[in-house]
Amino acid sequence: MKGLRDKSVLVTGGGGAIGAAICCRFAEEGASVLVADKNSVSAVKVAREVRGKALVFDISDYAAAKRAIASCGEIHVLVNNAGWDRFQNFLDTDPAEWEELISINLRGPLNMHHLVLPQMAARGSGCVVNISSDAARVGSSGESVYSACKGGILSLTKTLARELARKGVTVNAVCPGPTDTPILRGFLGEGEAGKKVYDALVRAIPQKRVGRPDDVPGIVAFLASDEAAYITGQVISVSGGLTMAG
Ligand SMILES: NC(=O)c1ccc[n+]([C@@H]2O[C@H](COP(=O)([O-])OP(=O)(O)OC[C@H]3O[C@@H](n4cnc5c(N)ncnc54)[C@H](O)[C@@H]3O)[C@@H](O)[C@H]2O)c1
Repeated sequence: MKGLRDKSVLVTGGGGAIGAAICCRFAEEGASVLVADKNSVSAVKVAREVRGKALVFDISDYAAAKRAIASCGEIHVLVNNAGWDRFQNFLDTDPAEWEELISINLRGPLNMHHLVLPQMAARGSGCVVNISSDAARVGSSGESVYSACKGGILSLTKTLARELARKGVTVNAVCPGPTDTPILRGFLGEGEAGKKVYDALVRAIPQKRVGRPDDVPGIVAFLASDEAAYITGQVISVSGGLTMAG
């Protein structure tokens, strides 16, 4: 893809399932990858695989994120991919439990945009790709607070795309559907009950399979490349046709 060689790409949650696949794809395109994750073991492992640099910090901690970003030099592409969910019907949740979900899925990406966009705007170029979720577009039972945060990310994407369009910065979002990663396995639950939900999910997906981490990086790399220079404020699902949002 055009324009990715030698670019510096920071991927949050780069040690996770989808994040690692995104890191590998950018490395294949000749980019230099900053693997950011609060899990030091996975960050270092993926950084070694892609010959990149591991950055170990919690995105919800503004000061820690600021220190990490200050050590990076120029960042040309930011992929906000870190995320986490706890599955519970909304009426069973306790307000105290919302905080962690909001810090990781909304405050963390707010921090990252706030810390990385100034250098992109000053340079007059840069790309942000936000990993939201189809839960934000169509809702998902048991994922109320997470969905609210991911919906917030879509609104943030469109607003920042408008605010930064004349500064040469694009901001787009990718919404994975159910993808075979630890997050999905947590959603499905264990044993026979989990298998039933999984089978029902597969039946509902037009392409008759759940996503794989490798399904996501192609569109992310495209949106960060020169080929997508005239695309901003857009949302695209990667879900085997499960969601066909207008
Ligand atoms: N798996 C799915 O079905 C699915 C569906 C839709 C959207 N998504 C989104 O895709 C993204 C990647 O998810 P995944 O399935 O690969 O999950 P994963 O659990 O494999 O990876 C998430 C990574 O984020 C890191 N992380 C979590 N909180 C962090 C924090 N505060 N600071 C820094 N790093 C943090 C974790 O350590 C982990 O390595 C997430 O944003 C998720 O919400 C996943």
